[in-house]
Amino acid sequence: MAVLEIRREGDPVLREVAKPVDRITKNIKRLIKDMVQTMHAADGVGLAAPQVGVLQRVIVVDTGDEVVALINPVIEQASGAEIDVEGCLSIPGKRGYVSRASRIVVSGLRPDGKPVRYTAEGFVARIFQHEIDHLDGILFTDKLVDAPSDSAMG
Ligand code: NI
Repeated sequence: MAVLEIRREGDPVLREVAKPVDRITKNIKRLIKDMVQTMHAADGVGLAAPQVGVLQRVIVVDTGDEVVALINPVIEQASGAEIDVEGCLSIPGKRGYVSRASRIVVSGLRPDGKPVRYTAEGFVARIFQHEIDHLDGILFTDKLVDAPSDSAMG
């Protein structure tokens, strides 16, 4: 396993659309292990393959209870909306408010090739949406909204 270099905002790879994984090769499995290690080394809760320079549709998410690796993730359902603060390992030092669905159902493949489906709410739903955006070249800074009126950035 290896800690990979995390690409920073301004690197064109972060603006590309990643390709679906058509076969789960040894390289993809190694990529997932390296992404998990890289995410944890950087103290992050999610990472998408384009952030380590790989244009394949792979994300890893640390839900707090478990680390989920998802290949070709698709948001099947999304409901509700909430505004909260986000950051990104590719944009160190920057945080801002983004509106996300408050509940999602996401499907994809596990590293062993089995189809899976997760229901996520709140912060974990936010991480999935943020990471899947990376697969389409979208950064949270593209989606900034004003701070909710009942809160203030201190
Ligand atoms: Ni990010």
